[in-house]
Amino acid sequence: MSEFSYVNGLYVRSSDASVNVEDRGYQFADGVYEVISVYQAHLVDRDLHFDRLNRSLTELDIPWPCERRVLGVILAKLLKRNGLNNGSVYIQITRGVASRKHAFPTEQTRSSLVITCNRKGIPSSQDLENGVSVVTVKENRWGRRDIKSVSLLPNVMAKQYAVENGAFESWFVDDQLTITEGSSTNAWIVLKGGELVTRPTGTDILSGITRLKLIELAQAKNFHVTERPFTVKEALEAEEAFLTSTTSFVMPVVEIDGKRIGSGIPGPVSEALLQRYREHIIHSAEA
Ligand SMILES: Cc1ncc(COP(=O)(O)O)c(C=O)c1O
Repeated sequence: MSEFSYVNGLYVRSSDASVNVEDRGYQFADGVYEVISVYQAHLVDRDLHFDRLNRSLTELDIPWPCERRVLGVILAKLLKRNGLNNGSVYIQITRGVASRKHAFPTEQTRSSLVITCNRKGIPSSQDLENGVSVVTVKENRWGRRDIKSVSLLPNVMAKQYAVENGAFESWFVDDQLTITEGSSTNAWIVLKGGELVTRPTGTDILSGITRLKLIELAQAKNFHVTERPFTVKEALEAEEAFLTSTTSFVMPVVEIDGKRIGSGIPGPVSEALLQRYREHIIHSAEA
């Protein structure tokens, strides 16, 4: 974490930052979050992240803690205060502080806003070059995965399972044996002829901003993108596989459950899309 954080109106030293013990985010995971990449002091795809934040808040009936425009100002000030040019920011908004009852508080509460910065946030170049492995786990999350909720226990458990099995990520598999998404990433495969397949958005996955952007970038380069569920079997037989997220960019997947995908090294399509995504980050910082 970097030196300064923002907590409910104050820019404070991260080591001194604290939240109320009755914050509903702390007690009920009653809140939402966003992670945005920072490149050359520029917030990558900021407006798309703000749109998704707005959607998450609206779905849970949590009021914005400030105007959307003001959130942009706070973020810019915090980046400056931390001298942060490259890394990521974490934004968390919860329903606020109230005496502990499950239902929404009837007393007047204010949504809590906490922002922290991280000097890391870009993927390791070694992983991008060599590709990573994933393991599959049974889907066990709630039915509103489209909301970017701070309630992440199944995702935490799934990532821990990956770590314990020497993998980079876990991919959740539902009862139909299709892959929904990763613990903190979206899943893709590449079929013969270069067709890209990724699950359509809906309530069973988070609509990743990287996923959204990559569909646009890939189509602009004449890749055919099909949004449909795909099975583990299809993934194992695919030419290539990769995953996407704000902090993983376009990460080639070379192994699933110990089985090699394609030739076992990052394929040309994944590499071309990673290159295109990097260009997008650079161009958007220049704009
Ligand atoms: C469950 C899940 N799916 C997908 C993603 C990728 O989303 P994005 O590309 O916006 O980082 C994330 C990111 O945190 C996630 O938690």
